[in-house]
Parts: sequence; C-alpha cells; structure tokens
Amino acid sequence: MGKLPIIVGISGASGIQYAHKLINVLSDISYPFYLIWTSAAKKVLKYETSYSFKEFEAKALDVFEEKDIASSVASGSHLVKGMVVIPCSSKTLGLIAHGIDLNLIARAASVQLKEKRKLVLVIRETPLSLPIIENMRTLALSGATILPASPGFYHEPRTLDDLYSFIAGKVLDQFGIEHSIYKRWKTP
Ligand SMILES: Cc1cc2nc3c(=O)[nH]c(=O)nc-3n(C[C@H](O)[C@H](O)[C@H](O)COP(=O)(O)O)c2cc1C
Repeated sequence: MGKLPIIVGISGASGIQYAHKLINVLSDISYPFYLIWTSAAKKVLKYETSYSFKEFEAKALDVFEEKDIASSVASGSHLVKGMVVIPCSSKTLGLIAHGIDLNLIARAASVQLKEKRKLVLVIRETPLSLPIIENMRTLALSGATILPASPGFYHEPRTLDDLYSFIAGKVLDQFGIEHSIYKRWKTP
C-alpha cells in the first residue's frame, strides 16, 4: 500500500496562511491529501488573504465542501492516515467535541476519532472561554492532538512565512512526515 492520504480540513478561523503553507509543503513532497472547506473558511480566505482557491486545490486528490456529506472521507471504510483541521474554529471544535456531525468537516473528524486515527486540531482563538477549554479537554481525552496556532520563537523567525512554517512543521511532526521547514532546538 502506498502513502495513505491526510485530510486537510480548513475552517473559518483566522490563520488560513498556516493551511496554505502545509498544503504547499505536502504538494512539494508529493504527499497525497484531501481538502475540505467550510463555507466560513472560504469567506475568511477572501477577507484575510489574497490567495486563490486554485492554489489550495491544485494538488489535492479531491476537494470537498462542507455539504458533501456523501464523499469518501465521510466513511471510516475509506482509509486515510488521519486528519488535520487547520485552522480550527471554536465552532468546529465544539461540533467535533460533541460528536455533532453537522457537516463534512465535523463528520470526517468524528470518523478519525472512532477509527482511532490521528486527528490534529490547530485551534485559533484568544482568549479562551471555558467552553472552548472544556471542548479541547474532551477532545484531548478522546485521543485528538490539540495543536494551538501559537508559534514559538526559539527558531528565530524573521518573516511571517517562518511563523507559518513553524506551525505547518509541527503538524507534519504529528504525522511523522520528515521535513526541515523549521529549525529544531539544539543545546546552545
Ligand atoms: C475574518 C474572520 C476571522 C475569524 N476568526 C476566527 C478565529 O480566529 N477563531 C474562531 O473560532 N472563529 C473565527 N471567526 C468566526 C468563524 O468564522 C465563525 O464562527 C464560523 O461560524 C465558523 O464556521 P466553521 O467552523 O464552519 O468554519 C472569524 C470570522 C471572520 C469573518
């Protein structure tokens, strides 16, 4: 069996730049991935960036909208390595935490949990309310990885792109995908 694809879910939180970086790296190394957009993500993309949908979708195995509930990735019988939601809004976090498969992104994430596959949630909110903290706790206890979009600074970032690379690199680390897009800490 070849490489199992990763599902990249993009929800309507700030920081779609992190998803853009991740997808570019996956494309560069020919790592297969599916893409799921929520409707809010498409709006935020327009408000916050000058990226085009095509840039995201060009190298995807398949591209789905949140309403595409009958797509392959809605079923546990469709084998994938896991899923990342990047960025993950507090709404999508809440849906997943409570098993409410209201749209394809929540459904695909629920599938990863039930199949005990990797689920990484790049949550982007600050400050955090108690419901968000409780939802993160529930999901951490369910086996998901909560990976806040909070880049470190020990790799001496000089550009925004360095910050995007840090978060995208941490996601790749979760899936065991080799990369050198951020500088790892070494004993000084
Ligand atoms: C420009 C913009 C930035 C937003 N940033 C965030 C954010 O960082 N985190 C968040 O949880 N919601 C954010 N929202 C709100 C979500 O888009 C909104 O809750 C939406 O319903 C999320 O839907 P989705 O999870 O289906 O994508 C933002 C909305 C807009 C318009």
